Amino acid sequence: MSRTSRSNDSICFQIDSTFHSISRHLNSPAAIPLQLMDQQTPTETNGSNENNNIEQHTNIGTNDEEEDEENFRILGHPMHLKRQRDDSNNSNNSNGTSNSNGGTTTESSCSSTSSKRRHIDQVTSLESRRQAVRAWGNQSIQSADPDIFEMLEKEKQRQYKGIELIASENYVSKAVMEALGSHLTNKYSEGMPGGRYYTGNKHIDEIESLCCQRALAAFELDSNSWGVNVQPYSCTSANFAVYTGLLSPGDRIMGLDTPSGGHTSHGYYTPNGKKVSGASIFFESFLYKVDPRTGVVDYEKVEERVMDFHPKILICGGSAYPRDWDYAKFRQIADKCGAVLMCDMAQISGLIAAKECASPFEFCDIVTSTTHKSLRGPRGGIIFYRKGYKPTKRGMLLNQGDSSDKYDFEEKINFAVCSALQGGPHNNHIAALAIALKQLATPEYKAYMQQVKKNAQALASALLRRNCKLVTGGTDNHMLLWDLRNFGLSGKNFEKVCEMCHITVNKIPIFDDHGTMVPGGVRIGTPAMTSRGCLESDFETMGGFLFRAALIARSIQREHGKMAKGILKDGLENNKDIVDLRTQVENFATQFAMPGQDV
Ligand SMILES: Cc1ncc(COP(=O)(O)O)c(C=O)c1O
Repeated sequence: MSRTSRSNDSICFQIDSTFHSISRHLNSPAAIPLQLMDQQTPTETNGSNENNNIEQHTNIGTNDEEEDEENFRILGHPMHLKRQRDDSNNSNNSNGTSNSNGGTTTESSCSSTSSKRRHIDQVTSLESRRQAVRAWGNQSIQSADPDIFEMLEKEKQRQYKGIELIASENYVSKAVMEALGSHLTNKYSEGMPGGRYYTGNKHIDEIESLCCQRALAAFELDSNSWGVNVQPYSCTSANFAVYTGLLSPGDRIMGLDTPSGGHTSHGYYTPNGKKVSGASIFFESFLYKVDPRTGVVDYEKVEERVMDFHPKILICGGSAYPRDWDYAKFRQIADKCGAVLMCDMAQISGLIAAKECASPFEFCDIVTSTTHKSLRGPRGGIIFYRKGYKPTKRGMLLNQGDSSDKYDFEEKINFAVCSALQGGPHNNHIAALAIALKQLATPEYKAYMQQVKKNAQALASALLRRNCKLVTGGTDNHMLLWDLRNFGLSGKNFEKVCEMCHITVNKIPIFDDHGTMVPGGVRIGTPAMTSRGCLESDFETMGGFLFRAALIARSIQREHGKMAKGILKDGLENNKDIVDLRTQVENFATQFAMPGQDV
């Protein structure tokens, strides 16, 4: 640290090179000059032996000015900080004279008007600094960031004007949206309710505890036998937290293969062995498949594979599986090899809560889910785990390697979520989830879920009537898998043509009759459009639009070849058939309001 004397009687401290910019700033007319006076001796601090510099200032100052002085310590040395006199003010002041250094000598006759003006300037300056910090804190997106505002508006229009048929998507309620955009985002609360790393979490604890209670109630779970963690940022992280908590790196897991409808977070790797999921990178995964002839899980094969591979965690549940799961059968298989049975109910958790799909809770040890699909809550994940005594009838094999008679998931899973994999939970998300879970317990939610299923049936009938082929021949839940091979279409081209017509679906692989995977299908789901108020007849209409899009895609594909790139290159946005269908789709979709938004 070096000291450099300044032109007027102040002293500038130079701590390191970055300080240059600060000292330069001090010379600018806009800056509020601070004058750092010389180091004080203990006697000086007592005020008995002040040096000239201090005397000068105390002479000029009124009491108001003296209040701007401050004592503090640097590296244990007592220092005295005093606001510098304003040269311009003094040069205008007939009672003041400038010294040769450009500083000011003072006289006790300095007018009180000038002194007051200085004081007002200082206060104004302080206020303007305060305002400068506060100013942008209250701006709306529109004025703070017009670019992002415009993009948000465009996305809102896209969501409103189009037909949303991605099975994983939904429109949240206004209350959920409000909580997501709330001040809860300001608070840090690493840890669990009652045991946070930071203070100030009284209300956050209440919110998270209520959210947990509601989560257990939504699935009719007894808090003595089940616990829940509502902090995961997504279902992928929820799944990975389960593996991290319960397994050692390299331990074995087994889930449904992604081309068969499983999710990548269950341990997917490509046919040539590329590991594309943290679950397959850090753990050893082996996957089971659906029967290519029926599209349904082949339980006998699952058992065979499980007995060969002996996974520590067996996973049921998937992303693109339109039929109910036989959880009892999975339990039997898991018990044979002592595996923990986990269900990822992400797609169907809303249907399960409304009792419109079989429940995994009776048979599984751990159940994970997203909170934003059929559940209609905010984007995130959740983990339910068993607590208390293990059922004895499952015998010694349950929980391989763990001879205890009690489940130990709670501590392991909570620790894996925070702090092994995540930091502070997103409290705005947790409050929004609590709201969604409250809505889940209402008769209106049950009616909504029943409608989601009826609509999926109506859409399936509309397509089947037009000789379209559905994987498994239909659906038990909210989604259909449309096998486009009899149109000679790839899922990718169909998906693109639909997008141009303002219908959103997503491509999926389909097994051909020889069990080879071809990208020949799309997945279609009904929750989002049901949230906008569409009923069976509306889904009949949407079935007609989808069929029309398939015919358009086929004729374009015949003309341009199968490569999606070719389709997109040729300016098909203006193709007459596409423009006509897009107009019909938008006229149809805009009849239905977008929940939670004024559009
Ligand atoms: C079964 C299943 N699990 C997990 C996920 C991943 O969820 P997230 O995007 O929250 O990680 C999905 C998403 O579609 C899913 O379908």
